[in-house]
Amino acid sequence: MTSYHLTESEAIKTRELSVLAARLSNSLPIVISGLLLDLPEEMRKPLLNFGADSSAGGHFLLRGLMVDDLPETPAAHGMASLDDHFTNGTLMLVADLVGSLVGYQDEKSGALFHDVHPVRGEEHRIENSGSVAFDFHTENVHHPLRPDFLGLLCLRQDHEAIAATRLSSVRDALPLLTEDQVADLRKPQFHSLYPTSFTRHTEGPRPSAGPHPVIFGSADKPFIRFNSHNTQAADAGGERALRALGEALEHVCRDLILAPGDLVVLDNHVVVHGRSAFQPRYDGSDRWLRRFYSLRSTPLWAQRMMRHPRVLPAMADIRGVV
Ligand SMILES: [Fe+2]
Repeated sequence: MTSYHLTESEAIKTRELSVLAARLSNSLPIVISGLLLDLPEEMRKPLLNFGADSSAGGHFLLRGLMVDDLPETPAAHGMASLDDHFTNGTLMLVADLVGSLVGYQDEKSGALFHDVHPVRGEEHRIENSGSVAFDFHTENVHHPLRPDFLGLLCLRQDHEAIAATRLSSVRDALPLLTEDQVADLRKPQFHSLYPTSFTRHTEGPRPSAGPHPVIFGSADKPFIRFNSHNTQAADAGGERALRALGEALEHVCRDLILAPGDLVVLDNHVVVHGRSAFQPRYDGSDRWLRRFYSLRSTPLWAQRMMRHPRVLPAMADIRGVV
């Protein structure tokens, strides 16, 4: 199963639990585990299975969640108007079913819930605030503790309902490549620049991480670590392999147009994602998604460095550790 549409009574029950969970975002993950058991069985079971093994498609779509009446779509960064909103609880419950909700100290000061909406003047930024096409990437490509999953909940669609969340599974794409290309992609010869969302407040050139392979894992269950904007090859052979990979990912891509109340969960090691372009109007009713990250387990050494129970340490403190 790759999707589930909640019944009305299941959506109401999930909303009730979300209200309770939203009050617990500063608590240890164990505190909300009791709420997880009360989630509707038909929704809980496939998500638990997806968390254990996301299969070749690498995504699960939950439909029919409640989002209620909403304020205007924020126009700028830091205008978070949903601080205590129950959808925070919905995101937390789903994130904790597949892993544990986490944030990153370096990104948006460790925020656990990320607003994704266009910001005037940032149309061309390749991050949440942009509206030009955002090419394929896995999330936080530079990071040793990359999220295992991310979730995107749609609160509001773009006016024309054309902005698509684009998904491509590495397991669909690799059969389109030659053995030599795959062998090149498996070599630890690539570097990835830190995404701009991690360097918003730093001066100078963006640092990079690596060398790392773009493809890893067994031949029958391969994984991917790749950001088409930020991952660079060491030589011309690596460049060609990256180009071929990009074309293969494009070939197998599925476009998902999320409607309000849709929440898609992605396995960040199996699918790359992107977004097609759209035309914002900055009239308070622009496209608005909310995002979470989820990690199956945090190493003990990292847990002991965390200043908040769910926020991973800054790169400056862990660079080179793993
Ligand atoms: Fe992304």
